[in-house]
Amino acid sequence: PTTRYYNWELSQSTISPDGLARPMLLVNGMFPGPLIEANTGDRIVVNVTNNMDSGTAIHWHGIHQKGTPWMDGTMGVTQCAIPPGQSMIYNYTITNQWGTYWWHAHAASQYVDGIFGPLIVHSPDEPHLKKYDEDIIMMLQDYYHTPSDPLVNWYHSPKSGGSDPLPDNGLINGRNSFNCSKAAQAQFPTNTKCTDGEPLATFNFKAGSTYRIRLINTGAFADFQFSIDGHTLTVIEADGVDMQPVPVQRLPIHVAQRYSVLVHANETVGNYYVRATINTNCFFGSNRALDPFVKAVIHYENAPVAQSFDSTDWTAASMAPSCVDLALDMLHPYNVQPAPTADVSHLIKFTMKPSSDGILLGYANDRSWSPLMTNATLFQSQMGLTSFDATQQVVVLDKNVIELVLINDDIGPHPFHFHGYTFSVLGWGNGTYVPGQTPLEVRNPLRRDTITIPQRGWTVVRFVNDNPGLWTLHCHMDWHMEVGLLIQFESWPDRIRGLEIPSEITAMCGA
Ligand code: C2O
Repeated sequence: PTTRYYNWELSQSTISPDGLARPMLLVNGMFPGPLIEANTGDRIVVNVTNNMDSGTAIHWHGIHQKGTPWMDGTMGVTQCAIPPGQSMIYNYTITNQWGTYWWHAHAASQYVDGIFGPLIVHSPDEPHLKKYDEDIIMMLQDYYHTPSDPLVNWYHSPKSGGSDPLPDNGLINGRNSFNCSKAAQAQFPTNTKCTDGEPLATFNFKAGSTYRIRLINTGAFADFQFSIDGHTLTVIEADGVDMQPVPVQRLPIHVAQRYSVLVHANETVGNYYVRATINTNCFFGSNRALDPFVKAVIHYENAPVAQSFDSTDWTAASMAPSCVDLALDMLHPYNVQPAPTADVSHLIKFTMKPSSDGILLGYANDRSWSPLMTNATLFQSQMGLTSFDATQQVVVLDKNVIELVLINDDIGPHPFHFHGYTFSVLGWGNGTYVPGQTPLEVRNPLRRDTITIPQRGWTVVRFVNDNPGLWTLHCHMDWHMEVGLLIQFESWPDRIRGLEIPSEITAMCGA
């Protein structure tokens, strides 16, 4: 194992990812941010310097941080903000994990404005290692021409009537084109400098080769249907867990989820569209994504470089997207692991509803998380130094195997991410979950870290409670997290108190 050092400077700048100029947040001047690529067992050291106007924290999405919960980078939960003008060094080891992850700001809605990038972990133990020639990363995101702060402020006010901010476009690896004449019809019209016909992201294929495409939904809100014209996708990984290969024509991918798919370059030499279509039929309210048909291009070596690509959407005739994940019976982990028997089951009910002043809030068991509580007192209380702040909902986990019955009372689906763990997904569905009656998959259930809970539906997950720390479970639709759709878990409070908090972390809270 080696130690990999990174120096990151976070800054603000106006750039035009799809041709339309807007202020963005950049890492080392890049959007999307730099790749972290490591082998399992490596230590990652990232010196983050914050040259933005507001405090920040960087989260390593999907990395368990076993023994280093302070490095989870969740502002207001595991650390106080890195103030403007200051630095913090993240330092952690990636143990027993490999596959496709990402990192992103976990401070207000900063990642929506650009503070994110891929995190790829290799291992000689990967079962599908010999089945492909090359790795390709494709980050899919919904995209907004308005910076996230005004969007969140609007959402968090009576003006929105509870409607979500809707994307103006989508990007693949930070690129797309935009029809500038549409800017005026946007939910929030813009009239900044705009150039039509920016080039799409292009990926080169060599005929006969096989590619492992790592898909990451780095977006704020929208789920995608992903496909490549004429090419079958063979799913081999979900959220860092190797899967038994399963071929699909297209793949639903919700916010913060990852998949690896194998793609054989076995079609006629030519150019083919990569399609990441925003599932606008899962939106509520005005339903106005300006251009949901997000594309990139697969270019076969020696194919003429076409001005217009004329491949046809070979998935067009298949069924309408249903706003849920790939069916559970399609995803079987490669390393068979039966579900552990639960020592305790916690019922967590989520919903979105207006508070007394007409502002929509997210609730977990009738309490709404407040992202505003990012002060030293909160942090110290959570580190066990003082008693918990009474307004914060924290579920204590002090049994070995935990089951969570997650009930979604809302009219929309929500992709929930759990920090610190990969959970087993025993089942999900619409309607009512009846313990002991609704059948669950226990022989070899899907394992992942981000799962879509269907609208007015349920999901049952289990995990071995082996990672003392403070971990959040939250909807990864950024707007919903911003209005409180988040709950905290404290794993083994006594053992947390036995861990030594690096002074650099406590110092940031002014302690
Ligand atoms: Cu991708 Cu709480 O994070």
